[in-house]
Amino acid sequence: MLRLATSRLLLPAVMAASLILSLAYWWLDNGPHEIFGTAMFGLLVWHVYTNRRWFVTIRIGRYDARRWAVVIIHTWLAINITVLFFTSVLISRSVLSFIQLTDNVSVIELHWFSAYWVVLIIAIHIGSHWKRVMATTATVLRLSPSRIRTNSLRLFSALLLASGTWSFAVLGVSTKLMFGYSLEFWEFTASVTPFFAHWTAVIAGVAVLSYYSMAALRSAGKPRSHSNNCAT
Ligand code: HEM
Ligand code: HEM
Repeated sequence: MLRLATSRLLLPAVMAASLILSLAYWWLDNGPHEIFGTAMFGLLVWHVYTNRRWFVTIRIGRYDARRWAVVIIHTWLAINITVLFFTSVLISRSVLSFIQLTDNVSVIELHWFSAYWVVLIIAIHIGSHWKRVMATTATVLRLSPSRIRTNSLRLFSALLLASGTWSFAVLGVSTKLMFGYSLEFWEFTASVTPFFAHWTAVIAGVAVLSYYSMAALRSAGKPRSHSNNCAT
């Protein structure tokens, strides 16, 4: 049980936390930024190893719309995270200071551009696997189904979606995703906690959208009930 909780819940949570911390470059400074980023990449190896079955069974079984969507998200995520990884290695000034490969502005820009896209895709990825996260949590905490809990969680999702939309605008995420220069840098001398709260809300809001999109694809893929025909 401890192993299940560690690899399926704690590990992704620590990875997501490292990702959000890495975004606070101007609060952390270069050294800690690179350490948190490197930690995320290190944990990613463990995460991919834990989920190796998904890669091994990729050519087995039937493909419906939901499964295709997951394959597309994973491919997009893998490409994007590879770009982030290689640009990190190229521009490193602390962890790999002894090789310091380049300080080319285009590579640096590609580094942050890919970083913001990674955040967005990971939010989609988390949402697309949220059903599994909830099932694992229920197993670990030995929860039995509850209508009150389901409705409370639905209400909470609606709140997350609303706050995520607001935070998306506050952080200027759309500019950051369009390779545009956002002059809106977070003023860490004024406040720190809201920066993390806003990024968490953006990730949660996108994850909620992704979760419900996946649920819609899942129910669209289900064969229609024959109850009317069978009733006779
Ligand atoms: C910060 C980065 C990431 C976070 C927070 C994250 C989170 C999650 C979560 C919560 C799950 C469901 C629980 C589980 O099965 O372990 C999951 C599953 C999975 N993740 Fe990630 N993930 C990240 C990065 C990646 C990357 C870069 C890949 C590579 C493409 C990846 C591939 C997978 C696979 C293959 C599964 C299992 C899918 C399945 O069996 O249906 N993840 N991830
Ligand atoms: C989770 C992974 C990472 C994310 C999300 C990320 C994100 C970012 C962002 C957003 C910036 C720009 C800060 C700004 O100017 O507003 C940045 C800068 C930087 N990152 Fe990362 N990073 C990650 C991992 C790494 C790693 C692993 C390294 C090196 C080992 C690295 C090295 C750097 C350096 C040297 C800069 C400064 C570039 C400059 O403006 O001169 N990053 N990163």
